[in-house]
Amino acid sequence: MNVLNGFELAKQCRAELAEKVKKMPRAPKLAVILAGDDPASAVYVRNKEKAAAEVGIESLVVRLEKTTRDELLRLIGKLNGDDGVDGILVQLPLPAGIDENAVLQAIDPAKDVDGFHPLNLGRLMIGEPAPVACTPKGCMKLIHQARRDLTGLNAVVVGRSVIVGKPMAQLLLRENCTVTTAHSKTRDLAGLCKTADILVAAVGKPRFVQADWVKDGAIVIDVGINRLPDGKLCGDVDFDACAPKCQAITPVPKGVGPMTIAMLLENTVEACEAALTGRNIGDITLEEV
Ligand code: GUN
Repeated sequence: MNVLNGFELAKQCRAELAEKVKKMPRAPKLAVILAGDDPASAVYVRNKEKAAAEVGIESLVVRLEKTTRDELLRLIGKLNGDDGVDGILVQLPLPAGIDENAVLQAIDPAKDVDGFHPLNLGRLMIGEPAPVACTPKGCMKLIHQARRDLTGLNAVVVGRSVIVGKPMAQLLLRENCTVTTAHSKTRDLAGLCKTADILVAAVGKPRFVQADWVKDGAIVIDVGINRLPDGKLCGDVDFDACAPKCQAITPVPKGVGPMTIAMLLENTVEACEAALTGRNIGDITLEEV
């Protein structure tokens, strides 16, 4: 059994990005909007800021304890029009009452380093290049640590969020897996998971996936980050029970989490490269037609 070390892989990704950034004519710049007072979001944003600095990406964090949809839309409009800003990230969740979809759709798709804009989600679905949501992108890199060719494998993604489950299913499909997306209304979830060569758990329930749900030799990716009453972190998978059955499995912490941030940095560098070469990610310039 192979424990997929997301902490080390993320470190490698950051080192490669830092080398790339050194050769760029200017530093990429990421704008992060943190609205409201969610303590977990504040920690995530600080971690993103720190990681960005480490690879030479400039970051601008706008903290708005109290805000409105209109203020957010005005701010995003300003950042969209600022040529010095390559990537814009609005940390989720937004405070209650603010329509997340309306805010995410206001981001210029070329600066959408989270890959949550409907245009970019659509591009992913039709197989065009696009910025891809950071967590699913990181999960794919971890899966590829265990296996290069995924053709024909059965993949089960538990969870149907726009942030993880849906783009994850698309990425696995793009690599020729037979993909099933499971959710809270799925019948015989245990039986379905047992058919999975690749099992991705993204449900937010501590140690939800049990050993008898896991096929022998499966690759198991645990997206969950759950805080237990004793303050410790654990994933959506019962790691100790499941690990002996797996070909490869991600731990929590030091699995998917660090990869999410590394992929945000990668998306920011790619957005900057696209801006510097005068095209949007996914666009074909006239000269190429
Ligand atoms: N909140 C939880 N995960 C994410 C993420 O990947 N991006 C943003 N913007 N907010 C999040």
